[in-house]
Amino acid sequence: MKVELREMTIADYDEVYALWRESEGLKLNSEDDSRQSIKRFLERNPGLSYVALDQGKVVGAALCGHDGRHGYIHNLAVRKSHRRQGIGRSLVGRCMYALMNIGIHRCHLFVLGDNQGAIAFWRKLGWEQRVELITMSQPLSE
Ligand SMILES: CC(C)(COP(=O)(O)OP(=O)(O)OC[C@H]1O[C@@H](n2cnc3c(N)ncnc32)[C@H](O)[C@@H]1OP(=O)(O)O)[C@@H](O)C(=O)NCCC(=O)NCCS
Repeated sequence: MKVELREMTIADYDEVYALWRESEGLKLNSEDDSRQSIKRFLERNPGLSYVALDQGKVVGAALCGHDGRHGYIHNLAVRKSHRRQGIGRSLVGRCMYALMNIGIHRCHLFVLGDNQGAIAFWRKLGWEQRVELITMSQPLSE
């Protein structure tokens, strides 16, 4: 099997979204993960998000962006049939390399606390859990 990685574009949205939907461990949000939001994210963060393709079909995806200070990886997913073949590692590697090339030196991500598979994956890649931090959020609406 020859899997190719390339930059994600908004033309990939339908296939990428279908992959996210079938991926356990991701919590999609109708606003954040809508076509319009992903389009804006990709436009704000050119060259940082990637898809993995097997015979032209999306089998993996990683959204990556930065805020000028730190990088963030969101919604990393690999199709079940293609897992444990290094695709997740390669997607993350591409994102990290692209961030380094624009001068970003640290990357963060969010993992659902019960997503043991993903936690094991990130640890294997050398990521460390920040036990001293908690995440706080607030929706912005009138
Ligand atoms: C997490 C995920 C992206 C990993 O993708 P993958 O392509 O299977 O990962 P890789 O093959 O690149 O694995 C890299 C390393 O992590 C290890 N690893 C991967 N999944 C693992 C798991 N569930 N448990 C333990 N180790 C795991 C692999 O064994 C490999 O180690 P090695 O290089 O020493 O052999 C994939 O399981 C997935 O899509 N999960 C559902 C969505 C999800 O939870 N995404 C993460 C959101 S934070």
